[in-house]
Amino acid sequence: MKLNIAVLPGDGIGPEITAQALNVTKVIAEKFGHELTYKHAIVGACAIDEVGNPYPDATHELCIQSDAVLFGAIGHPRFDNDPKAKVRPEQGLLAMRKKLGLYANLRPLTIFKSLIDKSPLKTELVDGADFMCIRELTGGLYFGKPQGRSEDGNTAYDTCIYTREEVERILKMAFEFAGKRRKKLTVVDKANVLATSRLWREIAQELAPSYPDIELEYMFVDNAAMQIIQWPKRFDVLVTENLFGDILTDEASVISGSMGLLPSASIGLHTSVFEPIHGSYPQAAGKNIANPVATILSAAMMFEYAFNLMSEGALIREAVEQSIVQGIMTVDLSGTGKSYSTTEVGEWIIDYIKKK
Ligand code: IPM
Ligand code: MN
Repeated sequence: MKLNIAVLPGDGIGPEITAQALNVTKVIAEKFGHELTYKHAIVGACAIDEVGNPYPDATHELCIQSDAVLFGAIGHPRFDNDPKAKVRPEQGLLAMRKKLGLYANLRPLTIFKSLIDKSPLKTELVDGADFMCIRELTGGLYFGKPQGRSEDGNTAYDTCIYTREEVERILKMAFEFAGKRRKKLTVVDKANVLATSRLWREIAQELAPSYPDIELEYMFVDNAAMQIIQWPKRFDVLVTENLFGDILTDEASVISGSMGLLPSASIGLHTSVFEPIHGSYPQAAGKNIANPVATILSAAMMFEYAFNLMSEGALIREAVEQSIVQGIMTVDLSGTGKSYSTTEVGEWIIDYIKKK
């Protein structure tokens, strides 16, 4: 099969972790006889520096022409500490999501058995936790207009907007995902306060009869935040709006032991994007210490979701799992044991795949 991918490393640790994920992709393509072609493009703070735009047209063109996008991370502290900056790296990520119509962000939480003792939660709570959070990605507060400041600068506003069409398509996807898993769907909202949440709930109630085998529940987001750490095993598929999904998945990611483990797939109208859920971790940039696993697992999701190549994805997962079992881990996970560099972890995983 022909695999034509765009690689967008971005900022901070982005280039180091995507390099490992790309190497893994190359060796998988070789092993399974796929013809891989790829091109790099700039996004985020580095694109602001080079061309003044965090999501340049040339990058968008490349994404549109590719079958999948492998994405690293974006962001730079010099923008975080400057609330007055006119262009921000994050705008590049948001523009990409919007222009590619990536309305669904799939963030699966799985637990590696050999890492259970790294979880901040007790073993009995974590062992067997396995859920998928489906985050709406192109609506809500992130994109609602108006957004801005009053003329005197003393009032600021964001707008949370959802249309029926936006809510329906993400809820349908969530019902279908639940159907392929343990058949339980939790709609997370704040319907006791927000009008948008009440629209979500209304549409979920309308759709429910079409999915009679799915057990549907509604949960307020504050309660969900609590239950995710109190009893994560109760969840199968969660679906929620953009901002709630952003927050809850950071919370969920640490249950596995490190944020550096959680991959994601953003899917929608055009080319899908595969990226770790963590950020650009600027303190570690260039030090060869960042955990490449979330990005490597995002490459596994790329094989599965963009190309429907399940064995390829499964072999990447197996290699990652074995690297952890063998203790080949970066410093975020190694604890008092020996820690390995980003490249060492990547190379171990590649070696494992080659030998398989
Ligand atoms: C994420 C990130 C982004 C988001 C930022 C970098 C804009 O936190 O992908 O979760 O908030 O969506
Ligand atoms: Mn986030």
